[in-house]
Amino acid sequence: MIDKINSLKAEIESLVASSPEEVEQIRIKYLSKKGLVSALFNDFRALPPEQKRELGQKLNELKNFATEKVNALRESLAAADDDASASIDLTRTAAPVATGTRHPLSIVKNEICDIFSRMGFTIAEGPEIEDDWHVFSSLNFAADHPARDMQDTFFIQRNPTDVLLRTHTSSVQTRVMEKTQPPIRIICPGRVYRNEAISARAHCFFHQVEGLYIDRNVSFADLKQVLLAFAREMFGPETQIRLRPSYFPFTEPSAEMDISCHICGGKGCPFCKGTGWVEILGCGMVDPNVLEACGIDSKEYTGYAFGMGIERITNLKYRVKDLRMFSENDVRFLHEFDAARK
Ligand code: DAH
Repeated sequence: MIDKINSLKAEIESLVASSPEEVEQIRIKYLSKKGLVSALFNDFRALPPEQKRELGQKLNELKNFATEKVNALRESLAAADDDASASIDLTRTAAPVATGTRHPLSIVKNEICDIFSRMGFTIAEGPEIEDDWHVFSSLNFAADHPARDMQDTFFIQRNPTDVLLRTHTSSVQTRVMEKTQPPIRIICPGRVYRNEAISARAHCFFHQVEGLYIDRNVSFADLKQVLLAFAREMFGPETQIRLRPSYFPFTEPSAEMDISCHICGGKGCPFCKGTGWVEILGCGMVDPNVLEACGIDSKEYTGYAFGMGIERITNLKYRVKDLRMFSENDVRFLHEFDAARK
């Protein structure tokens, strides 16, 4: 009996615990009703009276020893916990988190979308991988139009059906007109692709915003007024616009729009090459062939469309000299637009 007491004491003395759960397991193993210490008390009852005096004392000592050990383990864990939380200074300022910034093209795209949303346009989007019909045929491109050439367009598959990367967001017009009857008033922001050598002034992908309004009695005067309102919101209330006759397969008549150079105020400077004007977009009245191709009655409805490059508008606003900057992800460049972030 005395050996058992001594070996159990040695065992208890060497115990360690790393969590409150482990302490509890120790308590159960030694001190609960069915525990090892209690089992010794059972053996004790069967002993002859002359041995009981001495061993009773030893047993009580063992029980106290085990109880103290469990308490000590519990306390040392709690103290370690306190230490850990005491060493965290909750009032300390956090290390600065490096936040990203909005990309300049997103800033300008959002601004363009905001302006047209306020004029009642909703946003429509379409796929970047397109077919010939949506990018060319439905938009009145002649069969031998140069844009249909490999030199200008990235084809993914040729024949029997052409699969290609859209070269303009005008394809979204077709997608919306095929599904919706007028009135239609949308703008379509998105990325477009062209087979161009990459340089400071050209890239193989860039971004456009397309606009389309179709209803009864839509006239060129409506187009002009909406574009003037847009130009003044975007570049300031002093901005003038001028429309020059142009050609696009999908509009008739077609025009290109210039704004008065906001750098020299129209007097002429190197930026506008001395002319006082800078070109910002193409536009026109939707060709009746396009309306018919998309299932809209061209005798009942008319409409206007316009398309602009987001890079171009961004360059005018922020004078980014090299187009490649937009896709290089140089944080020094991107952080320059922090202040303009909306
Ligand atoms: N799709 C033309 C381009 O990529 C831009 C454009 C011009 C769109 C005139 C139009 C428009 O809707 O009417 O250059």
